[in-house]
Amino acid sequence: MDKIIVEGGHPLHGEVRVSGAKNAALPLIAATLLAPGWHTLNNVPDLRDTRTIMTLLETFGVEWQRDGSTLRINSTNLSNCEASYDLVKTMRASVLVLGPLVARMGQARVSLPGGCAIGARPIDFHLQALKNLGAEIVLEHGYVEARVEGRLQGGTVYFDIPSVTATENILMAASLAQGVTVIKNAAREPEIGNLVDMLVGMGATIEGRGSDQLTIHGAKKLQAVEIEVIPDRIEAGTYLIAVGAAGGDVTVTNCNPGHLPALLDKLRKVGLKIEEGKDSIRVRRDGPLRSVDITTMPYPGFATDLQAQIMALMTLSNGLSVINETIFENRFMHVAELQRMGADIRIDGHSAIVSGTGKLTGAPVMATDLRASASLVVAALAAQGTTEISRVYHLDRGYENLEVKLTKLGAVIRREKE
Ligand code: UD1
Repeated sequence: MDKIIVEGGHPLHGEVRVSGAKNAALPLIAATLLAPGWHTLNNVPDLRDTRTIMTLLETFGVEWQRDGSTLRINSTNLSNCEASYDLVKTMRASVLVLGPLVARMGQARVSLPGGCAIGARPIDFHLQALKNLGAEIVLEHGYVEARVEGRLQGGTVYFDIPSVTATENILMAASLAQGVTVIKNAAREPEIGNLVDMLVGMGATIEGRGSDQLTIHGAKKLQAVEIEVIPDRIEAGTYLIAVGAAGGDVTVTNCNPGHLPALLDKLRKVGLKIEEGKDSIRVRRDGPLRSVDITTMPYPGFATDLQAQIMALMTLSNGLSVINETIFENRFMHVAELQRMGADIRIDGHSAIVSGTGKLTGAPVMATDLRASASLVVAALAAQGTTEISRVYHLDRGYENLEVKLTKLGAVIRREKE
């Protein structure tokens, strides 16, 4: 297992290019299961999660090639419709293959993902929605078995909470269903817009892109397509917050400032200078940090995937910050590790109360999940002394070349075998 060692206290300067979004690439890759032929996906990040989903697709009989950030995928011959526990347990987003497989093959068997560090994360919305489209669902031996005679039938789906991957699963299934499907209280994350564009390119008709109501006119057959993965707004946000923590002047390139409305508003209130370009954001810190309160919300609210990183930033201010986590019940795993670095944080139910002490000190810490790991890197960049972050395989799930990119910005960071 690798660990990352950071010597804190070096401001960041220069330019950093954001990779394609993990959370967009995964559903786009799953969507290639809907249509035969060679699909071309551009700007695909090379991450542990994108490798895992390709291993999963291989088990179905899919052929694929990678050339740099271009992924070519051919799902003409599907010989197996089962996603095994071994793969699903390492990546919950594997559940994204359920909708496309049952829509195209009439059947799918996908392991239940089980719990994960940040909460229970059930998939009941996915299953209920597929039932609404006519699938028969059986839960047995730790697996979901979905079947349909003939094609799925369009139907109406309402989500109690706008779930991102459930919206994506049903968008994909409905694109091959007979008739019209309406998804109410759909999630509105930019990654869903990316998937809508792909499905429309494949031949589905979809109305309501970007809104909380999506209407999908299914097609009998879909065709292979070429599509570009949108930039990773969470990676971009992590670099912006890192500059807030470490200080400096950085331009984050190949990103979409329009995808980060809540974060940019908060960072301006924190006191950072933010300049938005067409596909870049310049961030500068030239004064003390002010405290802000944060409440995570579905898009366009403040992303739960940036909550851990902004908390690390708030420990470096000199005021009080209340951070409410409304999406996942157990997403404060980073708190205990930040406390080891000198942070003053109290948890009260779904809220963390951060009393900024203005400084952190380096310590040995442990990464517990993907975004918690990113928050420890942010903290380490600003801390006095050296921080050793172990279990960094979590980081490798979602950040492409993190140490290389940060080193180019002037950070003193290296990876070592544990
Ligand atoms: C996606 C993102 C993840 C992000 C999250 C919230 C991907 C691959 N992952 O995860 O990075 O943190 O959105 O922005 O895109 N829920 C249910 N039943 C369900 C589904 C969800 O109760 O069947 C609940 C969840 O427990 C959670 C809330 O709905 O409380 C939202 O979760 P959801 O949007 O589904 O998260 P994911 O799609 O798993």
